[in-house]
This record gives sequence, structure tokens and C-alpha cells, in this order.
Amino acid sequence: MRLILIGPPGSGKGTQAKLLSQRLGLLHFSTGDILRDAIAKDTSEGRKARPFMANGQLVPDALVNDIVNGRFQGAGKPQKFVLDGYPRNLAQAQALDSVLAEQGLLLDVVVLLSVEDDEIVRRLGNRWTCPNSACKAVYHTFFKPAKIEGQCDLCQTSLYQREDDKPATIRKRLQVFHQTYDDLLRHYQKQGLLIEVPGRGDIEAIYADITKALGAGKMP
Ligand code: AP5
Ligand code: MG
Repeated sequence: MRLILIGPPGSGKGTQAKLLSQRLGLLHFSTGDILRDAIAKDTSEGRKARPFMANGQLVPDALVNDIVNGRFQGAGKPQKFVLDGYPRNLAQAQALDSVLAEQGLLLDVVVLLSVEDDEIVRRLGNRWTCPNSACKAVYHTFFKPAKIEGQCDLCQTSLYQREDDKPATIRKRLQVFHQTYDDLLRHYQKQGLLIEVPGRGDIEAIYADITKALGAGKMP
């Protein structure tokens, strides 16, 4: 199974990708998580990405494409995966097409998680994230509270609020999404891979809709 989750910031890509990865054994591949790890470790990639991320802009295509290419071309390349936050524009989608074709891998489905902007602002202001790179669990003060406030249920690490979850940066991230996603959706629509799943409501019900879409998508 190979799928891409597309959606505005806060639409639940990370939440759903985590469930898909745990339950279906897919590699969860989030460019946002990889870049945040790079920033935490102060690598050269992290130093390049940080100003873009802090301002809610996309980091340059070349940087993320290199990260993804490296993962698919290196040893232990994934066969089954869920891509979360990549690709984000047409140029990235075309780069991914080339990498997958080179590796002889076909996508099964591209899921658009649709959520309105006002709900997103409400969600991101109350999101809590686990910084442990082996965990990355995501919580919400009201919709998915941790059992002990401020502490990850799974690995007991202290939770934090992301630097880009400030109201002005959330607005910028939404604006960037609206500027780039049309071309991306058209690209996957033409390939007959795109399915829209409403991203509002119960997390488990959304998960069930995504797995239904997986069944309905093009299977190799
Ligand atoms: P990235 O980390 O990908 O962030 P994003 O796309 O803005 O999305 P989020 O991670 O904020 O939200 P999500 O959809 O994962 O939602 P979540 O599950 O956490 O990217 C960050 C930055 O990195 C970008 O701005 C860019 O700078 C850079 N970047 C990354 N990839 C890039 C690329 N390919 N190219 C260029 N730059 C790139 O859920 C949100 C909250 O809602 C949580 O609190 C959760 O508990 C809650 N929630 C989830 N589902 C529900 C529900 N159904 N009901 C109520 N609450 C819910
Ligand atoms: Mg995420």
C-alpha cells in the first residue's frame, strides 16, 4: 500500500498517517517531521529550512526533493508507505513521479483531507506534539487530550507546541496551501488517484473513510 495524504495545515495528516503506519505497517514519511528533527539537531539542512518554516513558507523544493530521493534510493528503501506533507506543489509531485518510476513503485491512492480554515485555526492553537523522533504522537487539548497533561501517553516525553503554530504563521501556512494545492490536485486527478475525504469529525471515522478509499483506489 502506497498513499499520499494531502491537506491544509492541521487537517489531521500526521494523526491519520500515524494510525495507518501503526495498523497497516506502512512507513510514515513526514517531510515536516524530518525537517523539525534536522532543526533540532542543527544540521545544515535544518539551518537552511528553519527561516522558511518559522515564517510558514515552503522550504525550497530542491531541499525536500533531495531528502525524499535519498530515502527512496538508499538502502532499506520503503515498499509500503504513507507520505504526509509531501509533495506540496506540482514540481515536487513531478519529482516524486520520477523517483517512484525509477524504483518501479506505483501509488495506490492520494487522499485529500478537506477541512475548513476556521476549524484549522482552532485545532492548531491547541495542538501538543511529542518531540521524540521515534514517537511523534500528536495531541489536542480538547479533541485528543493526553492522559497526563503535558506528557506523551506512548513514551512519557514532555509535549511541546510547535514554533509555527502561532496565529500569524498559521494564516501564512493556510495562504501557501491555497496557492499551491490546485495544481497538485489536478495532477493526481489526471492520474485517477485522487479521493477526497472530509477531515472533520471523529478521528476513527476519518480513519475508516481513508481505509475505504484505499480499497477503492487503483491497486497494482
Ligand atoms: P508540516 O509539518 O507538514 O505541517 P502542515 O502541513 O502545516 O500540517 P500540520 O503538521 O500542522 O498538521 P497535520 O495535517 O499533520 O495535522 P495533525 O494531525 O497534527 O510542515 C511544516 C512546515 O515544514 C511547512 O510549513 C514547510 O515550511 C515545511 N515543509 C514540510 N514539508 C514540506 C514540503 N514538502 N515542501 C516544502 N516545505 C515543507 O492535527 C492537528 C491538530 O488537530 C492536532 O492537535 C490533532 O490532535 C487535532 N486533530 C486531528 N484530527 C482531528 C479531528 N478529526 N478532529 C479534531 N481534532 C483533530
Ligand atoms: Mg503534521
